[in-house]
Amino acid sequence: MATVIATINLKGGVAKTTTSVGLAEILSSEFKKKVLFIDLDPQTNGTTMLIGEHAWKELNDQGYTLARLFESALKPNEYNFDLENTLQRNVSNILSVMSLDLIPSSLDLIKVQDELAKVPMGPLYANNPTDILRKAIQPILNNYDYILIDCPPNLGIITLNGLRIADGYMIPTIPDVLSTYGIPQIINRVNDFAWEIGYPIETLGIVITKYKENSNIHKTTLRKLKREIDAPLLSGIFKENNQMASAADFTMTYATFRQKWGYGGQFDAFYSLANEIVERYERNEH
Ligand SMILES: Nc1ncnc2c1ncn2[C@@H]1O[C@H](COP(=O)(O)OP(=O)(O)O)[C@@H](O)[C@H]1O
Ligand SMILES: [Mg+2]
Repeated sequence: MATVIATINLKGGVAKTTTSVGLAEILSSEFKKKVLFIDLDPQTNGTTMLIGEHAWKELNDQGYTLARLFESALKPNEYNFDLENTLQRNVSNILSVMSLDLIPSSLDLIKVQDELAKVPMGPLYANNPTDILRKAIQPILNNYDYILIDCPPNLGIITLNGLRIADGYMIPTIPDVLSTYGIPQIINRVNDFAWEIGYPIETLGIVITKYKENSNIHKTTLRKLKREIDAPLLSGIFKENNQMASAADFTMTYATFRQKWGYGGQFDAFYSLANEIVERYERNEH
């Protein structure tokens, strides 16, 4: 069975997508895992980082994105989500990443999101709106070691679809006041949802992103996060770094993970994050 990990924060711009994409790429290139990246965020940044804007537009014109899945779910009589053509195989602009697939998102998810919010919820409804993704990807779940889900910056129906299949989730955050605000609420909501579906969703922890060593507020917030017991800090601190931002440009091609993400500690940060996750989930497997 695949291990499924979601990435959540209510705040945008905290490197959720950057963390998820880099983690997916290193799990493939250095750990030789079979990885699926599911882009649930209507911003579609994870998708364009992995296949580029041009390829995304073509897929979007043909209806081969997750927007089609959720639109279809709203009109069950006209279900026409095509998993086979939506699934993008062997993505990423790093040549040594050879086992990473993608289920792309779409900007059109924004309006679907609003319509989904009006669908009645609860166990009495056969078409539970939080179960749409799980049903759709069931046939391919076992083809992967890891499935990473980049969620939108809210706890709406689409995010709950991601959590529905998640074994655990991580919360990337910039260690400042506004980015860390709301973390206890995320943890409580996820715990409530896990209880509702009767399946545990582990709080893997917080990932520190865009860390500025010369910032007093970053230092203080980091210390505070270490002391607090809401969620543990995951291994690997991602410092503010220009090459991390350049990694969003798909038009470049790289031979190795290090070439794309840079040599200034980024490799080590991604490696230790991936290693912690792999050790946690594979400790008891042989
Ligand atoms: N360590 C970093 N240093 C500098 N810029 C970064 C770093 N991590 C991410 N970025 C940039 O910050 C912006 C927000 O990151 P992104 O991953 O899109 O956040 P989110 O998905 O939370 O909205 C992007 O422009 C990204 O390239
Ligand atoms: Mg994002």
